Amino acid sequence: MMRIDIITLFPEMCDAVLNESVIGRARKKGIVEFECHQLRDFAYDKHKRVDDTTYGGGMGMLMKAEPIALCYEHICEALGKKPHFIYMSPKGKVLTQTRIRQLALLDHIVILCGHYEGVDQRVLDEYVDEEVSIGDYVLTGGELPALVLADSVSRMVPGVLSDDLCFEDESHYSGLLEYPQYTKPFSWRGKEVPEVLMSGHHANVEKWRREQSLYETLTKRPDLLDNAALTDEDQKILSRWTQSSLTDE
Ligand SMILES: C[S@@+](CC[C@H](N)C(=O)[O-])C[C@H]1O[C@@H](n2cnc3c(N)ncnc32)[C@H](O)[C@@H]1O
Repeated sequence: MMRIDIITLFPEMCDAVLNESVIGRARKKGIVEFECHQLRDFAYDKHKRVDDTTYGGGMGMLMKAEPIALCYEHICEALGKKPHFIYMSPKGKVLTQTRIRQLALLDHIVILCGHYEGVDQRVLDEYVDEEVSIGDYVLTGGELPALVLADSVSRMVPGVLSDDLCFEDESHYSGLLEYPQYTKPFSWRGKEVPEVLMSGHHANVEKWRREQSLYETLTKRPDLLDNAALTDEDQKILSRWTQSSLTDE
């Protein structure tokens, strides 16, 4: 079982997403547990303020350190341990499938969603283990990034997907992009499914899928090939394609 706590100003927004579809079903079955904490409940001044102006001037507000610290300490006390604490931030390391697989091995993660201009640096220095970004762009708040992390990590937890092996062929799992896939009908608007997929010949289907994965990766994300686990046969196929495209030029 894995548990993910999300510290946020918009717990309903997070719950709405985490109650749906595959992750919602896993949540109902108790395979993954999510707790979304309203940060305002940990702001004890009379206006329940969670933000204030920044020292040194500048436009915009910053999230205050104390409510965040109190909320994280509350989670630690309830669990009797200090779970891995992630701050979603455009300054963090960009999330990859490799990191997602590592995080899915933990039994507990706490995620902090920032807002406004971000968060007082002191609480990050004191408690946060890791800053994670979902890409080199900026969103208005950390809820969507936190949900991206919660979804991608949860689906790696055994029992969440109906067939745990189904993600092994997926894009990024082995370092390559996934091959193209087709469903019924066989002929759609004059376009037919590749013959090999109708052959029932398992080895030929596997060979075709591997070649297609290589082709997808070479044409769409050639940068991934540098770190992919490639066999000698894969290398031969790739060099045949790159040679022929050189001679075509
Ligand atoms: C407007 S952003 C703050 C950006 C911050 N002033 C900066 O320049 O780094 C507000 C919050 O959204 C979240 N956020 C925005 N973009 C993100 C991204 N690419 N990855 C993860 N979190 C992000 C963070 O939690 C951040 O605190």
